[in-house]
Amino acid sequence: AGRVELPIQLPFEFADISRISILACGTAYFAGFVAKYWFETYANLPVDVDIASEFRYRAAPLRPGDVSIFVSQSGETADTLASLRHAREKGQHIVSVVNVATSSIARDSDVVVPTLAGPEIGVASTKAFTAQLSVLACLAIAAGRARGALSAIQERALVQALNEVPQLMIKALELEHESEPLARQLSESSNMLFLGRGTSYPLALEGALKLKELSYIHAEGYAAGELKHGPIALIDDTCPVVVIAPHDHLFQKTASNMQEVAARKGRIILISDATRERAACALEAHIPMPSMHPFTNPLVYAVPVQLLAYHTAVFMGTDVD
Ligand code: M6R
Repeated sequence: AGRVELPIQLPFEFADISRISILACGTAYFAGFVAKYWFETYANLPVDVDIASEFRYRAAPLRPGDVSIFVSQSGETADTLASLRHAREKGQHIVSVVNVATSSIARDSDVVVPTLAGPEIGVASTKAFTAQLSVLACLAIAAGRARGALSAIQERALVQALNEVPQLMIKALELEHESEPLARQLSESSNMLFLGRGTSYPLALEGALKLKELSYIHAEGYAAGELKHGPIALIDDTCPVVVIAPHDHLFQKTASNMQEVAARKGRIILISDATRERAACALEAHIPMPSMHPFTNPLVYAVPVQLLAYHTAVFMGTDVD
């Protein structure tokens, strides 16, 4: 009905907190990293996002009464659980976004927001990632409303955008034929880069992780603007560069990074709802995405990113599960 209704009672008011810390590992960390952008943009709430295995050994100052969110599919990741216990000692409210409702992390939390993704069979987190994003998106909207950062009309627009995600994901899945032939080319590479800006940056990190994990090809994710600060040296005609660039307010900036890549003969695979022409440089391939509200880009763009890794692995004969 155009509103986010959390199925749980929070033991704090979003309006009363000054900061959220999000702690997780691997893919769950990247979901938390996307959420950082959402909480900042839609709830005007400062967010620290940290890899749990680093956080637990740091002396990050935590204000008692603030909120720490733990994201975990299994709910059993040792570093995430240890971070949770550390945060509790520091007087944080403990919220977990977990898939396994009976897990240790769920049991040790003040509030559990379940992802309800069903059992995760494969090692590579895919449906868990998109389910984590969905839950975190709802929390960001709820925080935005509670803090007066979002009007009812703005909330309705974001909820409607979320409601459109299943249809958009179906469209993205129908583009599978675009990533299949690319897999053969990618499988011949030893190194790949993934670039993105805004919420597409954590998605670029996730794309690189998924490719490494499934196909054993070395890949790195970078914020597109960081390219010129070192990694551009890696680019030549043997290096595919996957650019995740929805046609939003950041597109032109990312297009200029693509042009830098093209100037070094990098082989650009653009995932975007923008036309090829808008990139204004040579592309090896373009996966043409449907257009959507920028809020939901990471949920839907995760699909082609996962399919690229999947098909590359299948083509190479590695075990995707
Ligand atoms: O169960 P968790 O979500 O806590 O696991 C954290 C990571 O080990 C996990 O996300 C891992 O990075 C993925 N399986 C990678 O696909």
